[in-house]
Amino acid sequence: MRLVRLEEELREETGAWGAPGTTLGFVPTMGALHRGHISLVQRARVECDRVVVSVFVNPTQFGPGEDLQRYPRNLERDCGLLESEGADLVFAPEPGTIYPEGFSTFVEVAGLTSGLCGASRPGHFRGVTTVCCVLFRMIEPDRSYFGEKDFQQLVVVRRMVSDLRLGTEIVACPTVREPDGLAMSSRNSYLSPEERRQAPLIHRGLSRAAEAAREGCTDLDEVKGCFMETVSEGGLLSVSYLEAVDPSTLESRSLSEGRPLRLLTAVYAGKTRLIDNVELVPPASLRRSRC
Ligand code: PAJ
Repeated sequence: MRLVRLEEELREETGAWGAPGTTLGFVPTMGALHRGHISLVQRARVECDRVVVSVFVNPTQFGPGEDLQRYPRNLERDCGLLESEGADLVFAPEPGTIYPEGFSTFVEVAGLTSGLCGASRPGHFRGVTTVCCVLFRMIEPDRSYFGEKDFQQLVVVRRMVSDLRLGTEIVACPTVREPDGLAMSSRNSYLSPEERRQAPLIHRGLSRAAEAAREGCTDLDEVKGCFMETVSEGGLLSVSYLEAVDPSTLESRSLSEGRPLRLLTAVYAGKTRLIDNVELVPPASLRRSRC
């Protein structure tokens, strides 16, 4: 496995893989790797001939007052993990490599980015789509792997790739969790012991909501109530948003239409913002009656 920092080195390396039919898989990350990231690398390893992983804490997706400075960084450890997972190449650029002096073009996906996390993190998705667009152009992957844990990001990136014909297939991978259900995240390291103890209530609440929908409850207030009730058991948790949306358009929808929805939430555990989501699948009887 090679670690490269410069665009020229990256292109030299990937250019040498150019035999026709060689498939290139790409996993973009901000490092501080955990089993969630590794699951993406493993999927890429199975599905592609070559695997490139980027490790880049992207400054443009952090707002003022967010955690850019203290975001966990440990490239040596990340490289050790990636080597043992069989990644071919790690691209860990400096900010100036992605954003050279004079850089002034940004990619913005309208509509999909205005609600949910976009509502409280203005400019966040513009930073994500801009860096992903630059990385896709540099690496030219056949497939790019994203986690469902960041569901809005997945939908937004997919839209950008389709609109701009960036020519990479976006592969969605399921959320990897701690044994107690908490979605793995680099930001879990910010939690105090008590916040960490309460944080699994987020997944528990989402699971209860999903169960209510599965059992035929079509009243979204009631379904959301299952979540709110569970999360309120943790005195340190406060809900930033909870929305049931169409999984492709992210528009609010009712469960009585009989189609699966996605229930997305952001919850503060103290000062740390955690996100998670679950699929709401109405029972088959409801689905059939609407066909
Ligand atoms: P980062 O938070 O490092 O996540 C990199 C990828 O890992 C994303 O696709 C994310 O959804 C996925 N991921 C994170 N936690 C996961 C989990 N518990 N289970 C499964 N997948 C998980 O997301 C970013 O970085 C950045 O915004 C990036 C796309 C790299 C652009 O800077």
